[in-house]
Amino acid sequence: MSEHPILVTGATGKSGRRVAGQLRAKGLPVRAAARNGEHVFDWTDSRTWDSALEGVRSLYIVQLDGTKLVRPFVERAVRHGARRIVLASGRGIDDPDYANDSGGVLDGILDSEAAVRESGLEWTISRPGWFAQNFSEGFFADAVRAGELRLPAGDGAASFVDAEDIAAVVVAALTEDGHAGHTYELSGPRAVTLTEAVATISTAAGREIRYVPVPVAEYVADLVHQGLPPADAGAFADVIEPLRKGTDAYVSDGVHRALGRPPRPFAEFAKSTAAAGGWRV
Ligand SMILES: NC(=O)c1ccc[n+]([C@@H]2O[C@H](COP(=O)([O-])OP(=O)(O)OC[C@H]3O[C@@H](n4cnc5c(N)ncnc54)[C@H](OP(=O)(O)O)[C@@H]3O)[C@@H](O)[C@H]2O)c1
Repeated sequence: MSEHPILVTGATGKSGRRVAGQLRAKGLPVRAAARNGEHVFDWTDSRTWDSALEGVRSLYIVQLDGTKLVRPFVERAVRHGARRIVLASGRGIDDPDYANDSGGVLDGILDSEAAVRESGLEWTISRPGWFAQNFSEGFFADAVRAGELRLPAGDGAASFVDAEDIAAVVVAALTEDGHAGHTYELSGPRAVTLTEAVATISTAAGREIRYVPVPVAEYVADLVHQGLPPADAGAFADVIEPLRKGTDAYVSDGVHRALGRPPRPFAEFAKSTAAAGGWRV
């Protein structure tokens, strides 16, 4: 399949950028697609879909949460001759106790998983838990860089997974046989509390960074004060809920199953991110 470009959607994001990089490091041709990507692709503009899919046999899908666009996109991919597909999903999407879903994203992700499974293509689903990179590129990054992370997460924990490991699993599924029909739940090697995570980053970055647990109501009020509509502020608090409740603290064996090696520890993520200047102000 290697003469055909491998389509990577979400190619400017946390997992897609690494998937594209790891594929290129193997000398494989990549079509890196996003609204601001090398190849301009917009989920909400289906006129951009055909040029993204032209000549593609393998693809990585990072969906637009809150939509059901994966199903028609997969149908389009099949018409273009695609054979292999890897979908970015998430742990807990089929567990009603995992988190509240006031943002309404679970329905769309479940539909995407079903569309991929029903596609007739060789499919693999990546279901990561909380990304370690939420502290460096995701929605905690600015607060961590500013020296204080305030969250309604108590002393909750999660088995944060390194996006480098997520990308390695996706690349294996795109390029090797033996991963079709697998749903890989991905985590780090152990649960890490918020207090420990931020202390580890603080040590690696060589400066004081604090984690401050706050009540949910205070967190929501702060976000509203910063200008967020109350419904969006509530949805953010819901996203944090698995950290507070510890529902994402369990360890999954997907990295080991897919790659035959253990996942990277959080401390390694913190060290390499600090060395690359990830928390420099
Ligand atoms: N972060 C976590 O801890 C976590 C945990 C489990 C599951 N997940 C799931 O993982 C997925 C996110 O993956 P990620 O973290 O790798 O991505 P990400 O860092 O959130 O980046 C999103 C990517 O999607 C692109 N994008 C956004 N809107 C788009 C549009 N309208 N059309 C085309 N591309 C668009 C963005 O690029 P442009 O802005 O350039 O278009 C970017 O490349 C989500 O489905 C999320 O639910 C995340």
